[in-house]
Amino acid sequence: MCGIVGYLGNSKNPKDVIISGLKKLEYRGYDSAGIAVMNEGKTKRVRASGKLKALEDKLLTEKIDGNVGIGHTRWATHGAPTERNAHPHQVRGISLVHNGIIENYVEIREALLADGATITSDTDSELVAHLIANEIDSTKDLYKAVEKTLCKIRGAFSIVVMWEQNPNQLVAFKDGPPLVVGLGSEENFVASDVQALLQYTRKFIYLDDREIVLLNGQDVSIFSANGYPLQKKAVELNWDPQMVEKQGYAHFMLKEIYEQPRAVAAAMEPHVNTEKFSVRLKNVGFGSLVNKLEDLDPAQDWIKTQEVLKGIDRIFIIACGTSSYAGMVGKYLIENIAHVPVEVDIASEFRYRNPVIPPKSLVMTISQSGETADTLAAIRLAKEKGATTLSICNVRNSTIDREAHGHLYMNSGPEIGVASTKAFTSTLTVLNCLAVAIGRIRDVISDKQEKEFVQALLSAPSQMEVVLAYDKYFDQAAHTLKQFRGFLYLGRGVSFPIAMEGALKLKELAYMHAEGYAAGEMKHGPLALIDERMAIVMLAPSDELYEKSISNLEEARARGGQVIAIGTGDNDKLKAISKYYLSLPKAHWTINPLLEAIPLQLMSYHLASSLGYDVDQPRNLAKSVTVE
Ligand code: F6R
Repeated sequence: MCGIVGYLGNSKNPKDVIISGLKKLEYRGYDSAGIAVMNEGKTKRVRASGKLKALEDKLLTEKIDGNVGIGHTRWATHGAPTERNAHPHQVRGISLVHNGIIENYVEIREALLADGATITSDTDSELVAHLIANEIDSTKDLYKAVEKTLCKIRGAFSIVVMWEQNPNQLVAFKDGPPLVVGLGSEENFVASDVQALLQYTRKFIYLDDREIVLLNGQDVSIFSANGYPLQKKAVELNWDPQMVEKQGYAHFMLKEIYEQPRAVAAAMEPHVNTEKFSVRLKNVGFGSLVNKLEDLDPAQDWIKTQEVLKGIDRIFIIACGTSSYAGMVGKYLIENIAHVPVEVDIASEFRYRNPVIPPKSLVMTISQSGETADTLAAIRLAKEKGATTLSICNVRNSTIDREAHGHLYMNSGPEIGVASTKAFTSTLTVLNCLAVAIGRIRDVISDKQEKEFVQALLSAPSQMEVVLAYDKYFDQAAHTLKQFRGFLYLGRGVSFPIAMEGALKLKELAYMHAEGYAAGEMKHGPLALIDERMAIVMLAPSDELYEKSISNLEEARARGGQVIAIGTGDNDKLKAISKYYLSLPKAHWTINPLLEAIPLQLMSYHLASSLGYDVDQPRNLAKSVTVE
């Protein structure tokens, strides 16, 4: 979950490339950072605990230049977030940055100590630098030393290494956490994520697991872990570097909340015919390589997609956190619209519970980053068990995207705020399209119903625009709301997962106690929590469960709970029984979750801001969870 950047070339100061890259990667970890730059075989290293800003401040008084360098922003796994544990780690002229976990680090550490090594940090990462340094004593070659070290370490890791005796080389290896090579003109880069390098290049090679890269002068060579040269195709991205800037918003999260109407429109755009009001999933590419999807014949691809979706008799949706709540909404959509049974599972449970996956199952994963370790393990397990897999990712070419048989995209653009917002609503949009497509393919819904669902979906972006007005409302209300001791979020049906998502947002951003519950479950325990210091956030849109939600609300109110109700239109009843009433535009039941998510995001954002917390980088978290 750390961020890595490496640079080799003569046209830029590595320090500038690394710091600007690390800024884009800070979402991956932000408890310490460091940089090492080599100049004519002499390395200078600067490290600092705390956010990247602390490192930048230190660098103001340091002269640091050269032609090759590596940098790192850390999310601590082994060892506290102190300066001595910050990367790069250095051992006898080797400098190394590492993302991931070395599982056999205890044995390695004991063996190194028995050999008389001086270990200066509590990290597993430093041990890898020792192993490489030991190999280099005999091989005198950085690439070979890395290759020989790989069979001694176990876990999930990406590393980038440089050595003072080879001042024109960088060697990188990936087994687990993502790593990309950026190709420039007479200069090359490596990084955990393309966002770090968009400012310098749009041409990337995505590394697969157990591949080693050798940047040697201007040459880039890629090998398998056992030394076979590989030919890998570069991918040209059309992302605009502007997309990863704040563009005047106070935080990335706020910018991303505001981007939702556009993101949702982009998510449905490939699949929806706006004249016929029909859905046809585009370039799902079942069985095709991700980087060939653009070359697919859409008609042939649609035939294949229909064949797959007709042949299944159940769906498993596997994901973590916010993505799993999107999956829960997907269950309601797919079961209601397409009548296919759906099971939703948290990836960290699915992967270890030896799940029964009957033949004719489709296993679908949802992951914004496409790198979440548990979700990746889950898709691999599903494939081992013979299932057909489909991924919904935001980051194209991410590991999960590449490993799935079929591919759907959120199309949200880069999401930088650690708390997911636009990727969530974009996923709900894709799930709407998928549910309608399956419903049609299996003749469960008529042309007329399809049209109704599609029209509802097309109206979502403009309805979401309206709901964004709650930004100002919560800016003011946050000062009062922060007095509550805790928050219970309640919803029924398709609004239940939104209650879970609302509670998660509040916990992770405002560090307040919050729980999401199915409203009907209240009387089975949680009602006991309610008193006048407990806020009840009730999602009660005017759908077929509305009357039931009102009864639950009355039960909570009778026990002193202070109600924040979110309902449809100018609802006098809800207004009368709640302390705060937030009205949403009248929408189709399939679209209500998209609308409900926005005030909950804004409420968490403003509560956290008014409490003085860093909303883009909440404590203890990271955006891309590449460790289990
Ligand atoms: C919460 C949040 C996380 C992620 C989870 C899965 O706001 O963002 O709960 O949803 O870590 O991440 P992805 O979707 O990248 O697999």
